[in-house]
Amino acid sequence: MSSHDTGEPANRLWGGRFGEATDAFVQRFTASVAFDRRLYLHDIRGSIAHARMLCKAGVLGEAERDRIVAGLEQVRSEIDAGTFAWSVALEDVHMNVEARLTEIVGEVGKKLHTARSRNDQVATDVRLWLRDAIDGIDLALTRLLGVLVDLGEREAATIMPGFTHLQSAQPVTFGHHMLAWHEMAARDRERLRDCRRRLNRSPLGAGALAGTTFPIDRAHTAAALGFDAPCENSLDAVADRDFAIEFAAFASLLMVHLSRWSEELVLWTSAQFQFVRLPDRFCTGSSIMPQKKNPDVPELVRGKTGRVIGSLNALLVLMKGQPLAYNKDNQEDKEPLFDCADTVRDCVEAYARMLAALEPNRDTLRDAAIRGCATATDLADHLVRGGMPFRDAHEVVGRAVRLALERGRDLSQLTLAELRGVHAGFDEAALAALSLDASVAARNHLGGTAPAQVRAAAARARERL
Ligand code: ARG
Repeated sequence: MSSHDTGEPANRLWGGRFGEATDAFVQRFTASVAFDRRLYLHDIRGSIAHARMLCKAGVLGEAERDRIVAGLEQVRSEIDAGTFAWSVALEDVHMNVEARLTEIVGEVGKKLHTARSRNDQVATDVRLWLRDAIDGIDLALTRLLGVLVDLGEREAATIMPGFTHLQSAQPVTFGHHMLAWHEMAARDRERLRDCRRRLNRSPLGAGALAGTTFPIDRAHTAAALGFDAPCENSLDAVADRDFAIEFAAFASLLMVHLSRWSEELVLWTSAQFQFVRLPDRFCTGSSIMPQKKNPDVPELVRGKTGRVIGSLNALLVLMKGQPLAYNKDNQEDKEPLFDCADTVRDCVEAYARMLAALEPNRDTLRDAAIRGCATATDLADHLVRGGMPFRDAHEVVGRAVRLALERGRDLSQLTLAELRGVHAGFDEAALAALSLDASVAARNHLGGTAPAQVRAAAARARERL
């Protein structure tokens, strides 16, 4: 590193062109090392692949390559061990690693940046980092899907109220409800994998924006880093952050799903619903109200949805005004992306653990299911099977519901005589049609709530895991 005549360290890697050192405030303002140091493993991996490729292309000698690779490995160990001295003056992770490499291996370290720019370097690092993050989230999500399939299977015959408008609608099974959640999360996993597929291209070799004058082999570095192929266009390679936006969009939608589940769990665990129990270890108490057991985990997940959607918004707005190719604005992609990935990972993990311990209160669910005349549609369907047009059946059963409400009972608690008072054609089978078990069992087709169908759906879902 050359020094400047003020005695200040001259400007790092571009000292040659500058007449004075960077203003101390500007240095701090423009530095990203506080947060992008998190990319070091991927940065070093990319640099090793680059050095090997340069050697293969005849740009570096074999001894030079070996010293650079060994030096980079030493830098990695120092960072791993926590003994690495990060410097804000060196701005970002890339320049910190390179400067330390040169300290360790001497002059040859300065050759590493041949045929490369921080622009293709950072684009490569972020893709590699996000790919690993995606794989971790995929794993957690797959575990969560497995837990939901288990619940679907185990609770295939557990009857609960089904709601529309949060009003009693028709009985369903708890397993069916869990498999509905499963479908939502299965689509999330598809979106995640789709995002990974498009992300998995190598920007390396795009240089600052136009490519490089050296005889590089982009396919070689792409393959060495596990990318499916190099990015096609050098301008796009350094400027594109679509993969980050796609990931944040996946993450936002997943969080919206988890937030909706959380809303249900918060309701279901309340003293008024008591549909399910969460084990004490997933809840917290109150400092003042001795009776409290709060569903903090679902509440927090619901709350964290805001920051993930915020990340998506930050990334979209970050990109919307940028001309090609690289702009410093892009440095702002990392914090929202990291936060978004961390948050989603934790929330999926929390859900996988929590749902594995979820206990439905089967009796309470059953009692709640019949309330609100939930089998009224079944009674109407029964009349239709006897030949009555559905609109007329709707009218007849509506009158029966009114009678039940007037007498302070549920529709299913009316006697046959009372039903006959509404419509003379009612028979014993009408009473049977009003039962919860008959109601769910009758919805016996693909996608229906009949226990047999729920078991079959769980088996298909397990197959897709
Ligand atoms: N810290 C920068 C970033 O995160 C690295 C690339 C800098 N490139 C540049 N031309 N200033 O985007």
